[in-house]
Parts: sequence; C-alpha cells; structure tokens
Amino acid sequence: MLYLENRVAIVTGGAKGMGEAICRKFASEGCTVVVNDLDLETARKVADEITAQGGSAIANKVDQTIQADVIASVEDTVSRYGKVDILINNAGGVAGMHGRGALGTFDMDEFERITDINMRGPLYYLTAVVPHMKKAMYGKIVNFSSIGAMNPVVSVIPYHASKGAIEAMTRNLAFELSTYNINVNVIIPGNIRTPFWGNVVFPDGMDEEEFFRQTVVRQVPIQRMGTSEDIAGAALFLSSGMSDFVTGQKIWVAGGSPDVNPVTVRYDVNI
Ligand SMILES: NC(=O)c1ccc[n+]([C@@H]2O[C@H](COP(=O)([O-])OP(=O)(O)OC[C@H]3O[C@@H](n4cnc5c(N)ncnc54)[C@H](O)[C@@H]3O)[C@@H](O)[C@H]2O)c1
Repeated sequence: MLYLENRVAIVTGGAKGMGEAICRKFASEGCTVVVNDLDLETARKVADEITAQGGSAIANKVDQTIQADVIASVEDTVSRYGKVDILINNAGGVAGMHGRGALGTFDMDEFERITDINMRGPLYYLTAVVPHMKKAMYGKIVNFSSIGAMNPVVSVIPYHASKGAIEAMTRNLAFELSTYNINVNVIIPGNIRTPFWGNVVFPDGMDEEEFFRQTVVRQVPIQRMGTSEDIAGAALFLSSGMSDFVTGQKIWVAGGSPDVNPVTVRYDVNI
C-alpha cells in the first residue's frame, strides 16, 4: 500500500535539500508532486527525474516573496489536478545575511528581506491554498520552523523571528481549521546537512567538516548531522493518514534536541 496514492502536493523549495528529498519520497508513495522553487533549472531536474522513474511531477519557478507568483502556481496546480491535498511550506533560509544577524548589525531593509522569504512567503502559500482545502474538506499542511527560533546558538534575529511567527501561525491555523479536516503542523529541523549551510559564514574561516564535527559533538544527542531523508520521513507522517489525529503540533526532527542532553555533557559518576 502506498501512503499518498492519488494525492497532490505542492512542495516549496523543492529543488534542493529537504524539499528535494520530500519530493522524491512523496513521489515514491504515489503522490503527484509540484516542485516549486526560485531555482527553476534544479527544480526541473528533480521533476524530470521523478517522471523518468515513473512518478508524476512538474516544476514551477516561484519566488515566494512575490504573492502573484504564489497565487499563479497554486491556481495552475488546481486547474491541472483539481485540488491541492498537501502543502509542504518548506522554502526558507538566510541567503545573503553574511553574519549580520545580531541586533544592530542589520537594517530594516534586511529584516524585511529575510522575513519576506521566511514569513510572508509561507503566509502567501497558506492564503492561496487553504480556500481550496476548505472546499474539499481535506488538507495536510506542514510548515517549517528552525531549532534556532527557540534555542539559538547563533544570533539571527530576522530569521528566528520569522520562524517563531511560523510556529504561532501553525497553532492558530490548526485551531481555525480544526473542523475542516485540515491538519496543520510544523517541523522543527535541527542541524540538517543541506545546501542551506552554503549560505552560512563559519567562524574564523573554520573548515566546513570541522564545523560540523564540533556542532555534532556539542549540540546533537544522536551524534550525527541530520539528513534531508530524516526530514522527509517526518513530512510523510504528517502528510498521510498516519497522522489524521495530529494537528497544531511542533515535531522536532533534531537528533534528540532540545530535550535530550548530548552525550558530551554526561558526568562520569555513578549514582
Ligand atoms: N538545514 C538546516 O540545518 C535547517 C535547520 C533549521 C531549519 N531549516 C529550515 O528548513 C527549511 C529547508 O531548509 P534546507 O536546509 O532544505 O534549505 P536549502 O537552502 O537547502 O533549500 C532551500 C530551497 O528553498 C529555495 N528558496 C529560497 N528562497 C526562495 C524563494 N524566495 N522562493 C522560492 N524558493 C526559495 C532555494 O532555492 C532552495 O532550493 C527552510 O525553511 C530552512 O529555514 C533548515
């Protein structure tokens, strides 16, 4: 039995990282996947590979900071397939911040640029998709926060503020839609190795591998970086019938964070 047979999903940021893994996983479960991304060339590659393997996918160029782009892609999806069952509201990031995250290091234009990507964009998608889900009395929405929204180890105020807002919107929308058979949840990724990290400036020119090694030792109880496939598994759970009684929840996919201490903080005593 396939978990997403005859379902239609829009995956934002579907060209790379977690979004790409979700597209591939969902297609392998029988879902038609709409791969939306700023980067059309890579999104097309993902959609073409899925199609070549017998799946169903299309790619769209969407800059989610432009509401008209988002509306056009959602309307196109509905006119092609008649519905949107699943919204994976995943695209986001810190492109171009270059270490300017602490108070006083960014101006309001920068604040707006980052909140446009991480807060307005997802809100545009929710606004465009939810009326269709309400009409169908069916929907699965998965939003994306970040471990740093509530447990920062680096100061990136515009990004973390946006992600905190996403968590609040998730809870509010789950409440608003709870009688429409529409589930709204949010994944909180921990340290996941994706192209996202290409936008991050490592301390004092530290080597990327050394940075990840130290991150894992200090921060990740399971003692490895997460993978996009780790996220895709959680997204599948939240997008399928397996989670019909789950809404308004924050699902940490973070190798044990924030509740479990990393093994490196164990005390070597017997009690
Ligand atoms: N990687 C991590 O460790 C990590 C940790 C916490 C949270 N997150 C969050 O998880 C989500 C996925 O992250 P990822 O690591 O896969 O990122 P990624 O950078 O690997 O991929 C993000 C994708 O979003 C697309 N995108 C960026 N801006 C866009 C825009 N304006 N319109 C449309 N598409 C746009 C990019 O082109 C890219 O394909 C993001 O919301 C990110 O903030 C990531």
